[in-house]
Amino acid sequence: MTRHLIDIEALPPGDAERLIARAVALSRGARPEACRGEIIQLFWEPSTRTRVSFELAAHRLGLRPLSIDPERSSSTKGESLEDTCRTLAAMQPTALVVRHAEAGTPQRVAGALAGTGVAVVNAGDGARAHPTQALLDAATLADEGIDWAGARIVLLGDLRHSRVARSAFSLYRRLGVEDLRMSGPSALLPDPDDPAFRGVARVEDIDAALDDAGVVVCLRIQRERIRALSLPDADAYHAAWGLTEERAGRLRPDARVLHPGPVNRGVEIAPGVADGERSRILRQVRMGVWLRMAVFEWVAGAAESTPSA
Ligand code: CP
Repeated sequence: MTRHLIDIEALPPGDAERLIARAVALSRGARPEACRGEIIQLFWEPSTRTRVSFELAAHRLGLRPLSIDPERSSSTKGESLEDTCRTLAAMQPTALVVRHAEAGTPQRVAGALAGTGVAVVNAGDGARAHPTQALLDAATLADEGIDWAGARIVLLGDLRHSRVARSAFSLYRRLGVEDLRMSGPSALLPDPDDPAFRGVARVEDIDAALDDAGVVVCLRIQRERIRALSLPDADAYHAAWGLTEERAGRLRPDARVLHPGPVNRGVEIAPGVADGERSRILRQVRMGVWLRMAVFEWVAGAAESTPSA
């Protein structure tokens, strides 16, 4: 059966844990499985770390990655997204890696590719899901031996427009984290009935939210998904809602600071915190390659065990 990675919720039981453990093992020198075939990347939205780390992950496994720039493809001549993806799938790559501003696009693509044996990997869809970011964040923490059941994890900033937050909370709940918190300006917090934030405490006072936190994840303001919103300027936002040097200085000595990137220094996080000893930002980036290798092994393993895909 073809394995797609669309979101955390659709992962079969145990597979998130297996992908995280495999990424950690690869980062510690486990031998990668040799894979053959091609990966086609279709990014309708800009990316630095996700696109390049999928590409490096493919190279390190022996898969050949190709990146299509949709702006220079026949999408611009009226071809539907489904037809573009079916056309690429007809060339029989192992997987399409898809990023799109519209939530639900990876599911649409997976539907269009039904029966082809070509997997779809979600590299971020709108504000809905970014499963490999959540998995690589968890792998970064697992690598340091985090105790999921005892962890207090706090996400700060623009939760409302964040696909990273939605996937992260889904994954952390699955891993058994009970103490999940969020804090940010009310205009950037999700609707109270948004199911993606079930069980996450909304703490209005940022300093109270950070109290005794073991993990703090800073999120940038997702301006590309905000049409009209009045927000304070960068300095005022930083003072009110950023992880300033002072706030970071009051964190628990063993607290870790994560950020999925891109980082807006001096807005959601102080430069000294982003570069400081608590920061795991570049470890996240490094783990991203190992995690995406684990994802390709997972996808390719399913393809090999399918007799006539
Ligand atoms: N974290 C993340 O998705 O970064 P990019 O947009 O650079 O891929």
